[in-house]
Amino acid sequence: MRIEEYLEWQGPILEERLARRVAHRGQYEAKVWEAMEYSLMAGGKRLRPLMLLLGAGAVSGCCAQEVFDRVYPFAEALEMIHTYSLIHDDLPAMDDDDYRRGRLTNHKVFGEAIAILAGDGLLNLAYETMIEALAQDPAPGKILAARTIAHAAGPKGMVAGQTADMLAEQQKATAAHLDFIEENKTGQLITAALVAGAQAAGGSEKQIFVMKRAGRAFGKAFQIQDDILEIEGDEQELGKPVGSDAEKDKVTFVTIYGIQKAKEMAAGLSKEAAEALRDFPNEAGDLLREWIQALIYRKK
Ligand code: IPE
Ligand code: IPE
Ligand code: MG
Ligand code: MG
Repeated sequence: MRIEEYLEWQGPILEERLARRVAHRGQYEAKVWEAMEYSLMAGGKRLRPLMLLLGAGAVSGCCAQEVFDRVYPFAEALEMIHTYSLIHDDLPAMDDDDYRRGRLTNHKVFGEAIAILAGDGLLNLAYETMIEALAQDPAPGKILAARTIAHAAGPKGMVAGQTADMLAEQQKATAAHLDFIEENKTGQLITAALVAGAQAAGGSEKQIFVMKRAGRAFGKAFQIQDDILEIEGDEQELGKPVGSDAEKDKVTFVTIYGIQKAKEMAAGLSKEAAEALRDFPNEAGDLLREWIQALIYRKK
């Protein structure tokens, strides 16, 4: 199977599962559900959840629907957390952006109060989804997966990175400060995808270790590309504004290293991640390697 086939196969299944999670309405609170659905179903790349499934496949030695089904709630939860982080990231108090995933940002459509609540709603629904899965099957690996995701999303992970990112706008960030920002605001949830997938499927400690290494390298490569696309990308294709980092005088990999060196770094790190994944000589491992290498050339 090629990566395109995998995405065409699991993509629609994931979309349907996510849609079901946010189908609720209610008499007085319908607005928040509408806002949650608006951003969750806006068609992101679904990188994190679809990588989580492959992480599970890689340690199980196969790419079967039964393997994916056992870990799907964790994949869905991760995408809900990622989407919440984007809704809040775009708020006027943070990056103040008007477009995301090809449409107006949540607060532009629903107002700031509902956008904040929609983020809160998705974050909490994510935990409910994981805990519900644990209540049905409290396998030790699944408990570890939930812990991994909670840690990566929290104040030692994505929230730490976002905090450092906000504070860096007030002073010129050093290369070390930038590394901290990028490793945490983006790297943590991406690493969590591979690690939690492997854990939820009962992977060994050695396998988890390899996933962590691959995730860290790829997560950094992915964020460097995000910084490059901020400058070289096409707004239409990207579905979000370009040039908004520069407007805010933000320090990024590109401002520190220059675009050429940034590209070399991204390619080197992706290669490093793909090399680490050689420890999984099976279809899911191959798909992960192919995907990570293809993402070097991503346009969105
Ligand atoms: C965007 O993430 C924000 C970062 C953490 C770099 P993605 O590029 O995965 O965004 P979507 O999910 O496809 O919209
Ligand atoms: C977003 O980082 C990271 C999170 C939401 C955790 P950025 O602010 O750099 O990403 P974009 O460019 O808005 O997608
Ligand atoms: Mg930001
Ligand atoms: Mg932003």
